[in-house]
Amino acid sequence: MCQVIRVKPDLKKVINKARIANKSIGLVPTMGALHQGHLSLVKMSKSQYDVTITTIFVNPTQFNSKEDLVKYPKTEAADIKKLTDMGCDYVFIPTSKEVYDIKPTLKIDFGYLEHILEGKHRPGHFNGVGLIIMKLFGLVQPTGAYFGQKDLQQFSVITTLIRDFELPINLHLAPIIRENSGLAMSSRNQRLTTTEQESASIIYSTLKQAKNQLLKGVAKELVLKNAIETFNMAEGVKLEYFEIVDAETLQDIGTVSAGDRLALCAAAFVAEVRLIDNIIIEI
Ligand code: PAJ
Repeated sequence: MCQVIRVKPDLKKVINKARIANKSIGLVPTMGALHQGHLSLVKMSKSQYDVTITTIFVNPTQFNSKEDLVKYPKTEAADIKKLTDMGCDYVFIPTSKEVYDIKPTLKIDFGYLEHILEGKHRPGHFNGVGLIIMKLFGLVQPTGAYFGQKDLQQFSVITTLIRDFELPINLHLAPIIRENSGLAMSSRNQRLTTTEQESASIIYSTLKQAKNQLLKGVAKELVLKNAIETFNMAEGVKLEYFEIVDAETLQDIGTVSAGDRLALCAAAFVAEVRLIDNIIIEI
């Protein structure tokens, strides 16, 4: 049984016990409504660390839209069962009051990352992510922590935290787990009907189309134009952005040349639900 912890003092007891026993700790932060993507992170953590702690907390400070926060799926009992089946040791499921008993005064500014891709479209989002992740790092003091490539810019933000604060935490990036249709698994997919989920698979198919064109040497501008046209012709999907950037810095690149590592990143609305996806390629 995956042991459920709800309050910070209980979490501290578990952490202290693990530290005294000299056990390494793997942390998997999530917002719940767990799917195979989340569980792949748990599996990786279990294979590398003695104790795995998953956290489930729908963090209000990182939401830009009240509706998105209120409608975020919550499936606690099913989540605990999945974690138990995976052999996860502990799950920390605090309330908002428990986490933010002291209102944070700190604001984290991630520099240029605030002005590109997700940062540009979700002002304040990464400050919220930074605050909760620093809190979880402080509470759990993990040996290593797992994040998914699906939220590529989030990974850059957390890499920045680790680097700038010199945190002694190993950071692990996990590949994107997809539905058979290619749609990246996401808790928000639960808010879509089957037909809407089918429409949403255009995000990945267009990323793949762009990848193939870039690998064939088609110019970046034309690849972007084709991708935007594909979205314009699709029903029920509204593209927010489609960008080809440097995979490391996530910054704009000029012309594409051999040896470049690129990230193709997209965000789109299907019905009212905002979805993101990306592919990393080497030219
Ligand atoms: P959440 O969206 O629940 O995702 C938790 C972790 O699972 C993230 O690291 C995310 O990148 C990863 N993940 C999501 N979908 C995935 C998929 N299809 N394949 C592989 N990994 C996937 O990201 C957050 O929560 C929050 O911002 C959080 C980091 C918990 C801070 O509140």
